[in-house]
Amino acid sequence: MRISEKPVEARLNELGVELRAGVSLSEKTSLGIGGTTDELLLRKFETIPEVMRLLANEKIPYRFLGGGTNVLVDDGELPWVVLHLPTSQPGMRVEGNAAYVDAAADLGGMVTFCAKHDLGGMEGLIGVPGSVGGALRMNAGAYGTQIGSYVREVELYRAASGEIETVRGNDIRFDYRHTSFAPDDVMLRVKLELPSKPFKEILAGIKVCNEKRRASQPLNQKSAGCIFKNPAGGSAGRMIDELGLKGHRAGDAMVSDRHANFFINAGTASCADMLRLIEDVRERVHKNFGVELENEVILWKN
Ligand code: EPU
Repeated sequence: MRISEKPVEARLNELGVELRAGVSLSEKTSLGIGGTTDELLLRKFETIPEVMRLLANEKIPYRFLGGGTNVLVDDGELPWVVLHLPTSQPGMRVEGNAAYVDAAADLGGMVTFCAKHDLGGMEGLIGVPGSVGGALRMNAGAYGTQIGSYVREVELYRAASGEIETVRGNDIRFDYRHTSFAPDDVMLRVKLELPSKPFKEILAGIKVCNEKRRASQPLNQKSAGCIFKNPAGGSAGRMIDELGLKGHRAGDAMVSDRHANFFINAGTASCADMLRLIEDVRERVHKNFGVELENEVILWKN
């Protein structure tokens, strides 16, 4: 979708929106997969409702991209523009046991920032790639920690009302890799309440999680983390591994030989390759274990 060909550019500029024409989403996603579209950088939170009204009036479909670390984007020319919050110098501040963080902030950066202020609890999240907004939406978790446990307030753009709203943590459901946010809610800022812990102790916890992660996950390859959610009481990675599927491929999409629930782009994989691999593995697991694996990765395909 080329917004650059529509007569809204000037108005968007006035609203503090920066237009980047013809961006390849393969450069914006950790999988290195994705077609081309225009990108809109929303530099002023307060104008978001107005920007959204403008896009609706002009019938310009959009999707919001966070860190791009848990998304599989379609190939070719994409039928929607991508909206993005600027990631340079996102706001982060601490007041007592509360941390106020912009959704565009890097998740790991937030964990370290809080640690430096002697606020802990989130050590397990240190190596989870992505933005704070994406982590909130998915309720990212690892090593027994999930971000939802610490959320006290979320400021978001609510598409249903067309307004920026503040939602209390108690009114949000945080389940395993799932939340009660509406699919079109846009995370803007979060207030977390964190336990006090000496920096050194937090650092030690962070080190342990980093070592565990390095030992079991393909951190230097292009992936979107785990492709499937774990079924209740089971492990998708273990099942795929037991089927001898490490290294199994569809084109350049490959089951990691390090962790079988990580599918990697081993070269120039397309979205179509990755989808073929996902369906193939899902079918095999279903046939052999009677379990229908559910995607954890979010698919952006029309
Ligand atoms: N296992 C294998 N072979 C493999 C992978 C795993 O046998 O190829 C076995 C492991 O030996 C272990 C069990 O399966 O006994 C579970 O493996 P692991 O500890 O790696 O945890 P996981 O259940 O596969 C989950 C999350 C990860 C998170 C880790 C650590 C999901 C889908 N995955 O993985 O999150 O980092 O625990 O807490 O919930 C993600 O969400 O993208 C993700 C990577």
